[in-house]
Amino acid sequence: MRLPRSVETAEVGGKRVLVRADLNVPLACRQVADDTRIRAAIPTLRLLLDRGAARVSVCSHLGRPKTEADRETYSMAPVERRLRELLSDDRLQVLENTRFQPGETKNDEGYAHELADGNDLYVNDAFGSAHRAHSSTEAVAHLLPAYAGLLLLAELDHLGRLLGEVKRPFVLIAGGAKVDDKLAVLEHLGGRADRVLIGGKMAEQVREHNPLSYPVELPVDVVAARAFEENAESRVASVDAVPDGWLGLDIGPATAAAFGAIVREARTIFWNGPMGVFEWSRFAAGTRAVAEAVAAADAYSVVGGGDSVRAVQELGLAGSVSWVSTGGGASLELLEGRDLPGVAAIPEG
Ligand code: 3PG
Ligand code: MG
Repeated sequence: MRLPRSVETAEVGGKRVLVRADLNVPLACRQVADDTRIRAAIPTLRLLLDRGAARVSVCSHLGRPKTEADRETYSMAPVERRLRELLSDDRLQVLENTRFQPGETKNDEGYAHELADGNDLYVNDAFGSAHRAHSSTEAVAHLLPAYAGLLLLAELDHLGRLLGEVKRPFVLIAGGAKVDDKLAVLEHLGGRADRVLIGGKMAEQVREHNPLSYPVELPVDVVAARAFEENAESRVASVDAVPDGWLGLDIGPATAAAFGAIVREARTIFWNGPMGVFEWSRFAAGTRAVAEAVAAADAYSVVGGGDSVRAVQELGLAGSVSWVSTGGGASLELLEGRDLPGVAAIPEG
C-alpha cells in the first residue's frame, strides 16, 4: 500500500499549521456522546504543539447539516469544549463546521484557498473522512505542503493488515443504518471473508433483494417494535412473523446466539455497524452480544464506524479489540482496495 509522508518528517517550528481532523462525533443533547475521535486526534495536535508550531488550526465537519437550523445543531462548540478539556493550549484554534460552507462537499477550490490562507502547512489526520474528496480533505492538500497525521498512518497500518494474508476464519460483521454508503463496498470486501453476518437496518434491505453476489447470514429473529420509539411496545418475532407495520429494531436472541458462536471461532474479524438501535437499551442486546463475542474471540479484531465504536466504548470492551478504527465508510473503502482521495492527495512518504 502506498503510504503518505508523515507529519513526523515535517519542519513545524514556528509554522502555522492547518489540521483536518475527523471530529464528526455522535452528539446527544448538544453534548459529545462519545469522544473517541476527539481523543484520537490528540497525539498529532500534541506533536505539533510540542515541536513548536506557532499556531494549530483544527477543522472538521460535523454531521450532515442542510438547513439554517442545522447551524445550531451541528455547531462545533461542544466538540471544541471537549477538545480543550483534553488539550488546553493558547496556540490551538478550532474552526467552525466545514460543511457550513457549501463549497466543502464540492471540493471547491475557492473554499480550499480560504482554509489554506494564513497557514504554512497542512496535516490531514482525518482518516474517517479520507474517502471524501472535499475541500478540507482533498483540494487544500494541493495548496500547502501536505503531510499525514499519526492517526491516519496508524489506521492505514492496522486496516492494511486485513488486506494481506489473514488468519482464518475471517468473519465480517456489518450493520447500521447508512445502508447506501455500505452496500457497494460490502460487495467487494465480503468476497475476502469466510462468513458475512448482516444485522441492523441493512439486513432488511439485503433480505428484500440481496444485491450481494455471495451468500450472507441474515437474522432469523428480531426484536420487533410497533413504532420507531424508545418505549414502543415490542416483542421477539421470527423474521417471517413480524406483525404488519412493525419494525425490527434489534436482532433477536436466536440470531445473537448464532452470530456470537460464529464470531467466537473467528481468527480475523472486521465489524462495521451496530445490530440494532443500541442507543435505546431495550434494543441493545444484539449489538452487546456481538461486541462481547468480538472481544472474547482469539482473533485479530478490527471495529470500524462511529456507532459500532461507540457501542464497544460504552460496553468497556475497546481494550479487548485489536484496533478500534475511527473510520466507517473510509475503512470499508480502504478494504475494498480503493484509493482514498484524502490519502492520495498527500505526497508519498
Ligand atoms: C463518518 O462518520 O463516517 C465520517 O465522519 C464521514 O462522514 P460522512 O459520511 O457524513 O461523510
Ligand atoms: Mg460514513
